[in-house]
Amino acid sequence: MTDEIKISIRNLYKIFGDAPEKALAHVHAGMSKADLLEQENHVLGLNDINVDMPAGKTTVIMGLSGSGKSTLIRHLNRLIEPTAGEVLVDGDNILTYNARQLRDLRQHRMSMVFQKFALLPHRTVLENTGLAPSIEGKKTRAYADEATKWLDRVGLQGLGDQYPHQLSGGMQQRVGIARALTSNSDIMLMDEAFSALDPLIRTDMQDLLIDLQAELHKTIVFITHDLDEALKLADHLVILKDGFVVQQGEPQHILLNPADPYIEDFVGDINRARVLRTRSVMEKTEAPVEGLDGEVDHDDTLESVISMAEGDTNRHYRVMRDGRQVGVLHMRDLVRALVPSERGTDRALAS
Ligand SMILES: Nc1ncnc2c1ncn2[C@@H]1O[C@H](COP(=O)(O)OP(=O)(O)OP(=O)(O)O)[C@@H](O)[C@H]1O
Ligand SMILES: [Mg+2]
Repeated sequence: MTDEIKISIRNLYKIFGDAPEKALAHVHAGMSKADLLEQENHVLGLNDINVDMPAGKTTVIMGLSGSGKSTLIRHLNRLIEPTAGEVLVDGDNILTYNARQLRDLRQHRMSMVFQKFALLPHRTVLENTGLAPSIEGKKTRAYADEATKWLDRVGLQGLGDQYPHQLSGGMQQRVGIARALTSNSDIMLMDEAFSALDPLIRTDMQDLLIDLQAELHKTIVFITHDLDEALKLADHLVILKDGFVVQQGEPQHILLNPADPYIEDFVGDINRARVLRTRSVMEKTEAPVEGLDGEVDHDDTLESVISMAEGDTNRHYRVMRDGRQVGVLHMRDLVRALVPSERGTDRALAS
C-alpha cells in the first residue's frame, strides 16, 4: 500500500487480570484465549494486533461481540493502556506521551462519536456541538459560527437552540458528528456509532458519512458488527476474532478471498451483486478489444450491470475509470462471482 499511514498499531497485546505480564508469557507460549481464562483467570483482550490505518481513509474494525473491537479503539487515545506493543499516530509512539501531550491528542487530534450519542442534556444543541472549544474555555460566541456551519452541514439547520431530548435518535447522532467535525481533528473514532439507529436512519447516516468523507478526508476508525455497514464504509477492513486479526485488507478482496471458515461464514450471506464492483471481477487489460457490448464504470455494482445486460451472460463490457479503459468485464465471470463457490475458485477469479 502506498498510502500515507496515519495510525499504526504494532504488536499490541491487552490482557485483563491481576498479573497481565505473567499471563502474556503464557500467550507467547501459545496458550489460547479460552485456556488463559480457564487456567489463569485472565482475559485475552487483544492478541498481537498489527494494523496500519491509512490517512484520509476509513478503516473499519469488524467482529462478533467480545472480539476486542472496543478494546482496540480505546487504545488509540489511551483510554486503555496496553500490556505490550506500540500505537503510533503520525509516527509518534503515543505510549510515551506525558499528560499534556495526551490532552492535546484527545482534544485536537482525535474526536469520538459514540453509540449512545453522549450529549449533555442541559446544554443546547449548539453548545453540545461546540463541546471541544468550550472545554478549552472558549465562549459560545467564539465557536458559534463554526458549530452552526457543521450543524447545517449534517442537516440540522436552525436547531442550535434546541435541547437534546427534543431531537430524535438520528438527529442526536447528527449532533455527535457535527461535534466531532467542530473539534477540527484529523482523526474520528466511531465505536458502533450507528448501531442504535433504526435501519432507514442508519442508512441515511452511512450516506452522510460517505458524503462528508468525500469532502473532508478524515482518518476514520469505524467499529461495527454489521458486515453490510462495514462493506459500505470501509477502505480498509480489519476482521477480529477472539482478540486477533483473522484477515484485513480491501473489502472486495476479502469478500472474494476469505482467508478462513470464520470469514467465509461472515461473508456467506451477503448480497454479493449489491456489494461487488466490476473492478473486482473484471479481466484487467488496457489493450483495445473489438466487439464489446458497451461500457461500464469500474465502480458500478454487479447488480446494476446485470440489469443493464438484461440477464444475458454472453455479453462483454469495457470497464472504464476516469475516461480510460482499465479492463473488460465478461458477464460469465460476473455470474460466477455471485456465488460464494468452493474455496479456491474465488481466489483464482480475483487474482
Ligand atoms: N475491563 C475489562 N476487564 C476484563 N475483561 C474485559 C474488560 N474489557 C473488556 N474485556 C474483555 O475483553 C474482550 C473484548 O471486549 P470488547 O469490549 O473489546 O469487545 P467488543 O468486540 O467491543 O464487543 P461488543 O461488540 O459486544 O461491543 C471480551 O472478552 C471482554 O470480556
Ligand atoms: Mg464494543
